Formats: sequence, C-alpha cells, structure tokens
Amino acid sequence: MTSQNAAPSAPRLIKACRQEILDRPPVWLMRQAGRYMPEYRAIRQKMGFLELCKTPDVAVEVTMQPINAFEMDAAIIFSDILIPPEAMGMEVVFGDGGPHFPNPLQTAADVDRLIIPDPLEKTGFVMEIIRRMRQELASRPDTALVGFAGSPWTLASYMIEGGGSKHFAKLKGMMYDAPDVLHRLLGKLAETITLYLNAQIEAGAQAVQLFDTWGGILSEAEYRRFILPYHQQIIRNLKRDETPVILYVNNSRGLLPLMAEAGPDVISVDPLTSISDARQIVGHRFALQGNLDSTALFSSPQVLKPMVQALIAEGGNQGYIFNLGHGILPPTPVENVRLLVDLVKESALTPAHP
Ligand code: CP3
Repeated sequence: MTSQNAAPSAPRLIKACRQEILDRPPVWLMRQAGRYMPEYRAIRQKMGFLELCKTPDVAVEVTMQPINAFEMDAAIIFSDILIPPEAMGMEVVFGDGGPHFPNPLQTAADVDRLIIPDPLEKTGFVMEIIRRMRQELASRPDTALVGFAGSPWTLASYMIEGGGSKHFAKLKGMMYDAPDVLHRLLGKLAETITLYLNAQIEAGAQAVQLFDTWGGILSEAEYRRFILPYHQQIIRNLKRDETPVILYVNNSRGLLPLMAEAGPDVISVDPLTSISDARQIVGHRFALQGNLDSTALFSSPQVLKPMVQALIAEGGNQGYIFNLGHGILPPTPVENVRLLVDLVKESALTPAHP
C-alpha cells in the first residue's frame, strides 16, 4: 500500500506489528485496566468481577479508564482468560484469593463433557464490548483495540488444578499419567480459542494476544509436545490478514525459538531476556513487545526514568512495542504509569514525516 492510498492509516500499534518505521514505538501495558486505578476500585465496590465482565457498558468504561487517564496507544478489552472455560461448561468463581474452579477436571469423562461453545451464543458479551469499543475509539483512530485469549496450556492448568498453583502437580500428573486425555483437552481448548479469537476479530479487534502465563514451567521437549502444536493450530487458523497476532509466554527463557516456530507476528518478551538478546535469538521476522519489569514501577521516578529511556533506545522505532514484561501489579503508583507512558510518547526518534 502506498501513502496515497485512500484507506485510513492503521493505528501506531498495528504499524509496529508490521515492522513499519515509526517516529516512536507504541506503548500499552498488559493488565492496564485494574486494581491499581482508583476509578476501577470504585466500580468494583458496586459490582462483582464476573458481572463486570458480562456488562458491556461497564466493561467498556473500565477498558477506557487507562486510555482516558494515560492515553496509551492501545486499549485491551476488559475480560478474563477464564471466560471461555466457563462457556465450555465449567463453573468459575473469582474470589479474593484469585479465580478458582470448584469442580476441576480429573477424568477423561470430565474432559468429554466439555462443549466447544459457539462464541457468539455463549460469549456474545465479549463481542459486544469489542463493537462498542470500536465506536468509543472512532474519535481516536490511532488507538488500537486489542483482543485476547489464554492459551490452551494455561487454561488447562487452571481447569485441572482448580486455581492458581505452585507446583502444578495435578496438571503434570495428567501430563505424565494420561497424556492422551490432556491432549484431548488441549485440542478442545485450541478449537474453542480459535473460534473465540476469530469472533473477536470479526467484531473489530485490531490485534489479538495469546497469553501463555504458565508456558514457562515446561522443558523444551515438553513444550514442543504440549504447547507448540496448539499455538500453531490456533495461529494458523486465525483470520489474520489484517490482524496481527501477539504471543506472550511468561518465563520464556530458552523457549523463544519455539515461540517463533508458532508463527505469530509479534513475540512478547518477559523481563528475563533483554529485547536485544530476544532479537538475536528470533531474528527480524517478528516484531517484539515488552519487557520492563512490572516491579520497576515501584521505583522512584529518578530510577524509573533512565530504565524506561534505556528500553526505548534498545527497542528502537521499527518492529518494537513498549510494554511491561508481565501484567501491571495492583499496588503500582499511578503517577509512575503516567511517567512511563509520557516518556515513550515524548521519545520521537525522528521527526514525523510531513
Ligand atoms: O489487561 C487488561 O487490562 C485486560 C483485562 C485482563 C484481566 N485478566 C482482568 C482481570 C486480562 C488480559 C487478564 C488476563 C489473565 N487473567 C491472565 C493472563 C495474563 C497474566 O497476567 O499472566 C491470567 C493468568 C488470568 C487469570 C486471573 N484473573 C487471575 C490469576 C486473577 C487474580 C489475580 C490478579 O491478577 O488480579 C484474575 C482476576 C482479574 N482479571 C482481575 C482483573 C482486573 C482482578 C479482579 C478484581 O477486580 O478483583
């Protein structure tokens, strides 16, 4: 496409995903809507988390809270990775100690009972949030809307463990003792997530991110068996001609080449590998996203500022998206979020093209 083309220009985030040269990188933060914001806490006083996710008016308001406050270059829809497992037939409860499944999966029969939900019928509220968000962002065409889903492995970990876990003994127990049952579950999840993300793309998500929070607990050989084929299956089947796919794996040290094999447009790097090392490892076929340590936001502005500036310089202005290396933490000082976003936005490396 030439610059004379009449089509409206893509948002900055999408240009970065396509590795176009920009005057500065785009910036957004994983988990940017949430408890560190007083505006979010005020809404949560009145409404449960799951109810919030299922009430599009309010979910749109919460999605917009960080955009209104800090003007990131992307909004990520307010929802949770555990919405599809609920739609597959599992009860999920969001309590004070984090989410849990009162009836975790234990047997092959439990896995067989799960349905592959029609995303419009069972999770239409998510698509409604996306449609309304695109209207909301119509006056900010440079702000992209990001949709997301959890990866099969991370979703399976919650569905089998029943909640967060330290050792993942039940999940790994199934992996060792009944790998065929685990593969059946992962296959069902991959099909569910493919339909779910394609519905998000059809509703108007301009990029989608796949979160594999617990991908880093496996060896490379195990990752190749239980994670990579499902990432490949999902990414291959997404309607991604115009919609870049971002892949995030936490604790991805050593796994970056396998993330590349999944074939996303963007590899989201955790804080343990530098952006320069990640680029060396995966080459220039992928844009990179990340990877400021979330706890750096607890530092004083004098400490934070040079860290942010160094990362901007390291990432550069082609194929790089400024983000954290993992989600923002609830006690994060709001003023440091503002400082981070402002620093990236002021960092124009070359004058904008006339
Ligand atoms: O990024 C955003 O602002 C969009 C919303 C979003 C939420 N969860 C809202 C949420 C996204 C992208 C997620 C993803 C998610 N959810 C992940 C993957 C990302 C990651 O951090 O690795 C995971 C593992 C979950 C599961 C989950 N949901 C946990 C473990 C928890 C409790 C602990 C926590 O981090 O808050 C949730 C609840 C949750 N999801 C909250 C929010 C804002 C807090 C709910 C509350 O208000 O009490």
